[in-house]
Amino acid sequence: MDSLLIKGGVPLHGEVTISGAKNAVLPIMAATLLTSEPCVIHRVPNLSDVKFMGRILESLGARVSFEDGTVRVQVRKLRGVGAYNLIRKMRGSVCIMGPLLGRLKEATVSLPGGCIIGARPINLHLKGFAALGAKVTIESGYVRVSARRLRGREMFLGGRAGSTVLGTANVMMAATLAEGVTIIESAACEPEVVDLANFLNAMGAKITGVGSPTVTVTGVKELHGAEHEVIPDRIEAATYAIAAAATNGEVTILGARADHMHAVLDKLHEAGVKVERRGSALTVRRGGRLKSVDVTTLPYAGFPTDVQAQMMTLMALTPGISIITERIFESRFMHVSELARLGADIEIEGPSAIVKGGRPLSGAPVMASDLRASAALVIAGLAARGTTQVNRVYHLDRGYENIDCKLRRLGARIERVKES
Ligand code: EPZ
Repeated sequence: MDSLLIKGGVPLHGEVTISGAKNAVLPIMAATLLTSEPCVIHRVPNLSDVKFMGRILESLGARVSFEDGTVRVQVRKLRGVGAYNLIRKMRGSVCIMGPLLGRLKEATVSLPGGCIIGARPINLHLKGFAALGAKVTIESGYVRVSARRLRGREMFLGGRAGSTVLGTANVMMAATLAEGVTIIESAACEPEVVDLANFLNAMGAKITGVGSPTVTVTGVKELHGAEHEVIPDRIEAATYAIAAAATNGEVTILGARADHMHAVLDKLHEAGVKVERRGSALTVRRGGRLKSVDVTTLPYAGFPTDVQAQMMTLMALTPGISIITERIFESRFMHVSELARLGADIEIEGPSAIVKGGRPLSGAPVMASDLRASAALVIAGLAARGTTQVNRVYHLDRGYENIDCKLRRLGARIERVKES
C-alpha cells in the first residue's frame, strides 16, 4: 500500500488544471446501460473509482475502453445481475439500478452496506422505484427491483438530510424509459445531477427542471448513443483553493466552474481569502490574516459536505474559534483525531466540531479513513512544520487524479512511498 511523505512549510505557487468530476462521471457511465448504442465520454479522470465502474459495467455485458481521458462504452446485450463482490465494494455503483430497471424492467444488486461516514441507506432510491411501479425485495444481501411496466408518477424524494444525489440520479434514469410523466419533488440540485441529465437528454431523453427541486421526466420508448464532456470537479477545485490559502501560497486553478462553487468561494472570502476570477481561471491567495468562520454543510447550493474536512484544516490553522456543523452525514469527523496528531485543537459536540485554531501544526504519521478526510490530512501536512506521512492513500486515489504530481508542480515537497 502507498503512503505520502510530505515535508511541509512550502507555500504553493503556480497553476493546476482541474480534472473531470468523479461524482458526475460515475452516474454518466451507469447511464450508458440505458442504450445498446455506443457512448463516448470525455474529460474522464483517471481514478480507481472510475476504473471500478468500468469493471462493473463489463460484468453486466458492456464493452468498455479508456484512452487519454475518454471512455467508450457499448452494451449490446445487457445482463440484469452485476458482480456481487464488485458492487459491494463501491457505493457509487448503486446508480446502475435505475438504468437496469429502465431498460430491462429488473435489476438485482448487492445491498450497499454502510460506510465510515454514515449509514447511507437507499430507502429513497427504492421509494422512487416503487412509485414507478416496481416491486422491491431484499433478500440474502441482494436488493431486487422488477416491474412488468414502469409508469411515470409524481413523487417526493426528500429525506432526513434533505435531497439525495444518487437517489435523484437513479430514479431520473429509470423514469427516462417509463410510460408517461414522472415528477420528482425535492430533487437534488447538484451540478453533477444536471450534467447527468444533459447527457441523458443528448441520448434522447426528455428531462426538464433539473438543477431545481422539481424535475420532470417525460418517458420515451428508447434512447440512443451520445457523446459528452463531463463537467470539471468542483470538489477538487475547492481542495486546491484551500491548500493555497493553508500554505499562504498563490495558486491559479484552471478549468474550474466558479458558478458551481458559490458557497465555498463565499466562505473563503468571509475567512479573508482572496479569489480573483479571470474567465475559467481562479487565482487564490491569502489576503492577509485569515479569520475564523463557522460552516454548516447542506445540500447544493449550500456548503458541500465533501469540502467540510478540508475547511476544518484551514480553520485549525486560523486563530480564533470556528464551529463546523455536519448536517449531511452522521459520522464524517474521522479526520478530527488525525488532525489532533498534528497538533490541532478540535472538540466534537454532537453534529458540530469546535475548532480552536491558530496552533502551529507539526508533522506526524497519520491514517487516511475516507476520501475527503485524506485530502484534509494532505493539506495539513503541506502547512505543518516537519514531515507528515499520510497512510492508506488508496482512499485519495479514488477521487483525486495524480494529486501528488499536481502538488509537486505547485512546489510541494511530496512523494509517494510504499507504506513501511
Ligand atoms: C453523493 O453521495 C456523493 N457521491 C457523495 O460524495 C456526497 O457526499 C453526497 O452525494 C452528498 O453530496 C457520489 O456522487 C458518488 P446522498 P450519495 O444520497 O448520493 C441520506 C465523495 O466524497 N439518504 O445525497 O450517496 C444519506 O444517508 C462522496 O465524493 C437516505 O437517508 O449521497 C445522507 O445522509 C462521499 N436515504 C443524505 O441522505 C437514501 O435513500 C445525503 O446522501 C439516500 C440518502
